[in-house]
Amino acid sequence: MSIFDVATTRRGTGSLKWDKRPELQPFWVADMDFLSPPEVIEALHQRVEHGVFGYAVPHDGLVESILCYLDKRHGVSASAEHLVHLGGLVPALSLAGRAFADPGEALLTCTPVYPPFLNVHRDGALELITVPYVLEDAQWVFDWDAMENAVTDSTKLFLLSNPQNPLGRVFSKEEILQLAEFCDRHDLILVSDEIHCDLILEEERTPHFTALQLPEKYAVRTITLLSPSKTYNIAGMGYAYAVIPDKRLRHMFNRKSGHTLAEITCLGYYSAEAAYRHGEPWRRELISYLRTNRDLLTAFCREKLGNVLIPDIEATYLAWLDFRPTGITEPNQFLEKEAALFLSDGRLFGAPGHTRLNFGCSRALLQEAITAMGNALGK
Ligand SMILES: Cc1ncc(COP(=O)(O)O)c(C=O)c1O
Repeated sequence: MSIFDVATTRRGTGSLKWDKRPELQPFWVADMDFLSPPEVIEALHQRVEHGVFGYAVPHDGLVESILCYLDKRHGVSASAEHLVHLGGLVPALSLAGRAFADPGEALLTCTPVYPPFLNVHRDGALELITVPYVLEDAQWVFDWDAMENAVTDSTKLFLLSNPQNPLGRVFSKEEILQLAEFCDRHDLILVSDEIHCDLILEEERTPHFTALQLPEKYAVRTITLLSPSKTYNIAGMGYAYAVIPDKRLRHMFNRKSGHTLAEITCLGYYSAEAAYRHGEPWRRELISYLRTNRDLLTAFCREKLGNVLIPDIEATYLAWLDFRPTGITEPNQFLEKEAALFLSDGRLFGAPGHTRLNFGCSRALLQEAITAMGNALGK
């Protein structure tokens, strides 16, 4: 039995995932049902034990653990001054929009995508331009021609999710280089949200190429957003960071935050440090567990459901299900009503007829969802 098979009760614990619709089994918002690594829990215990919870700063140990992580995992040598500490990545997406575009100017992104990408433009009264990803040889890829046609003179930034939520793609080095070249040619700031980069399910086959590894000349237009939150299941602790090597860009980003961002808590800082310092063996076990969950779900959809399409999931614990061939136009409503399952509605990602299933749960629970989905569709 794996540590990830242990089902910890979350209902009634103030959990967004479990308590929002208690009448349904939750497979929606992107957090996992697993306990965080024991070292993270222990670090939190120790900090809580101290008993004083005043305003916090990113302590040296945290910064050291991040720089070490960037070096060891990504081969990137960053320095402390390149880091901008944040209470979450979504505020950073909004801040980037406001920092690098003026009202009336535009941001560009590709769909389907994590819903805040489609909404943060409102914070800065910006225009939103979207271009759908296209399926090529059973793989979701950028539609370069459509992007060339869509980009305008007033477009100022491109928001990238890599690995991609919800498609589960890990973009290759070539794709990221081509994207950087596209941004360079159109004078766009590239905002690369890489929150899922430690959740790659077969890293030898699809390694992560971080925007931080782009050639030096692109640094003047690149912001990379990272966090240990998804991987170590500490999203509720509220800690993320941006790596912005270019001084001018960093200044523009910081200046625009004004009074819009809340203080980061000491528990956010300490849990992040412990995750990066001690979490790697746990992460490896997690990846192996998620891989089996992915394989189970993929095989079920392809062998038993035939007409619910599932892409090859290279990363994340999120499965993007295309219900359109079933003739079911509202898959979320259907699954709620017929299977008592709560998934994420594809419309929020810019793609009606789709739904996103979070398989970051015990295998037993995933099996229940599979059975319920099979029964509902078999009716
Ligand atoms: C691509 C992506 N970015 C950001 C977030 C959320 O980041 P945060 O909780 O730090 O705001 C998520 C959560 O699912 C995500 O998938």
